[in-house]
Amino acid sequence: MQNSMNKTNEEPIEIAPNIFFIGVFDPNIRTFDIIMKTANGSSYNAYLIKTNEGVVILDGVKLEFQDIFFQKVEKLCTYNEIKYVISHHLEPDHAGSIPELIKRAPQAKVLISPQATAMLKAITHNENIDFETVWTNKSLKMGDKTIKFLTTPYLHWPETMSSYVQENKLLFSGDVFGSHYHDRRLFNDLVGDFHYSFKYYYDHIMRPFKSYVLNAITLYDKLEIDLIATLHGPILRDNPKKYIDYYRKWSQNSYKLSSNGKKTLSIFYLTSYKNTQDMAEAIYEGAESVDGIIANVYDLASIEESNMINILEDSDGILIGSPTINADAPKPVWELLSCMMLLEKKGKLGSAFGSYGWSGEAVDMIIHRLKSLNFRVPPIENIKIKLIPTEEELQDCYDFGVEFSHILNGKIIEMTMN
Ligand code: FEO
Repeated sequence: MQNSMNKTNEEPIEIAPNIFFIGVFDPNIRTFDIIMKTANGSSYNAYLIKTNEGVVILDGVKLEFQDIFFQKVEKLCTYNEIKYVISHHLEPDHAGSIPELIKRAPQAKVLISPQATAMLKAITHNENIDFETVWTNKSLKMGDKTIKFLTTPYLHWPETMSSYVQENKLLFSGDVFGSHYHDRRLFNDLVGDFHYSFKYYYDHIMRPFKSYVLNAITLYDKLEIDLIATLHGPILRDNPKKYIDYYRKWSQNSYKLSSNGKKTLSIFYLTSYKNTQDMAEAIYEGAESVDGIIANVYDLASIEESNMINILEDSDGILIGSPTINADAPKPVWELLSCMMLLEKKGKLGSAFGSYGWSGEAVDMIIHRLKSLNFRVPPIENIKIKLIPTEEELQDCYDFGVEFSHILNGKIIEMTMN
């Protein structure tokens, strides 16, 4: 099987009556979007629908593979027959071949979500494209196929959408339910075990948009679905609902064992001489004195990244304590902050504190970063203490914990978002 990886005379694969897979396989990719490891490679799935009124192309492929994509298109139709190009997602792994497709089929109308308008212009540098925007409740009737559009933004870009072929009960989901997993057998009941890839993909691509996943599932739940044609990895035709249910479960999942309805405040700290630790503990005492708050303290020097992500995800508020070393926050603090790209931050409250020797820049840097990540940072004075905190300063820390917790509990205060 492996010696056929780079062949270019691939055939389209019919996945439902007159609906074809015209995507390409990329067995050699090992890192995707800089942050994801792709041990099995991946695929860029694209599709073609033939009807007696013309052809619809759904999505494209990465630019470097477009020759294979066009060979497959040409095996099924002439460019003149293409009436519509539906682009569910304009990230370059799917839109790379779209500009050339539009050149070859200039009569085709491009259908995109409203949010994709500026992106389409940016990738084609063409102001004269014939395009139309579509959303939930809009549909396209072509011959014996009815394609209904579904507004499913932020899965995982603002412009993403899905569509559904009514007659075949086929969902074109976009990136959702994808896997970076290359297997030319294509269908989930024929390929190898891709479960780890399916979960890894969710964790790295969809988890930061959990609430949008659940919104999309409310639309998918209204459909009878026999087959999910994603933009990466296996096409899901054996028990497709199972994969929707995985996403539902993961997006609803909470790792909290018990919070009794209380708000969770997580206080992370890093300490050189125990000064920032003492501050963290005083803040913790203050927070715990407030009804409706559960506070926890974590030493950043002794926490696994996967635990850190789960804790962050289940926290309503976070506080980060850091010393300043060489005018900067130490690496473990930045590692904590970089984890947050894998999380949904919507509505979370955050701030920082720390002890310092000379100048104390770390606290302001952390606050700046939290604001840029769209945390709500309350305008209460942050706590920076030179070297060893005095009893009075520890009382300030306690009071800070109390005030932050009241805000976490809903105390009205004018917030700054940037
Ligand atoms: Fe597969 Fe978000 O591109």
